[in-house]
Amino acid sequence: MTIEVHPTGAALGAEVKGIDLSQPLQDGDMDAVREAWLDHQVLLFRGQQVSDDALIRFSQYFGELNLSPASATDMAGGQAASRPEIWIISNVVENGKPIGALGDKEADWHTDMSYVAEPPKGSVLYSLEIPPAGGDTSFANMYRAFETLPDDLRRFVEAHSCHHDSSTTSVGETRAGFAAAMDVREMPGEVHPMVRTHPETGGKALYLGRRRNAYVPGLSLEESEAVLDRLWAHCEKPEFAWTHQWAVGDLLIWDNRCTIHRRDAFDPHSRRVMHRTQIKGGKVF
Ligand code: OGA
Ligand code: MN
Repeated sequence: MTIEVHPTGAALGAEVKGIDLSQPLQDGDMDAVREAWLDHQVLLFRGQQVSDDALIRFSQYFGELNLSPASATDMAGGQAASRPEIWIISNVVENGKPIGALGDKEADWHTDMSYVAEPPKGSVLYSLEIPPAGGDTSFANMYRAFETLPDDLRRFVEAHSCHHDSSTTSVGETRAGFAAAMDVREMPGEVHPMVRTHPETGGKALYLGRRRNAYVPGLSLEESEAVLDRLWAHCEKPEFAWTHQWAVGDLLIWDNRCTIHRRDAFDPHSRRVMHRTQIKGGKVF
């Protein structure tokens, strides 16, 4: 079978057909997938049946993996999976303990773990159980968001950094071991430039992490809030986005260096179970 890449027609994303991720990939196929990933930023593979081992093998074609924090403190909740490279994203509770992270609430627009010094370059999410409605995941193209900024904002982001808060998850929960947010100027986390150059494509992308508890060092609180509100209103424009409605067996891989994503809430009485991996990245520049 030959690989086919079908762009979604939206600002980013493509579906890749003709590939079975349960099997090791041929060199040529992997090169084509990697190239499609850089071109389209998010790839969708439907109807896959991948074991945790196969999910890890596929993810490792893109680089070394971050281990799941289920035993550490980065994401709230979560039990250990079959292998330490597997992260579980789920609302399911067994014996009074969540089997995974992020629950059933809406997850705000974010890019993964931007609050560390070397944020992950990509994340892979594979669906095992999907609720009948809700829980869609949307992605937005941050190259496009950067290119279309009004001149004053473009000059601003080229000259400023942002502080990314590590205390609170994208669903608004305080991570284990952290205190609840008090003053955004004093949150734990990391400072990164607001514009980053993608190390593989050379493209420039807005890099804002997430809105909640963000702060622009050097500004007054009021100035920082005002400019972040303007920037986020721009990033959240529907023309930069594509939404995926999950079916069981879908696998998505996204590039955290040039996209943001969010998730819709879903009925807490339904089950959503996803297995995930995260690909190590490097410093932001
Ligand atoms: C993630 C994430 C969204 C979803 O795994 O990083 O944001 O749809 N997941 O579960
Ligand atoms: Mn995420």
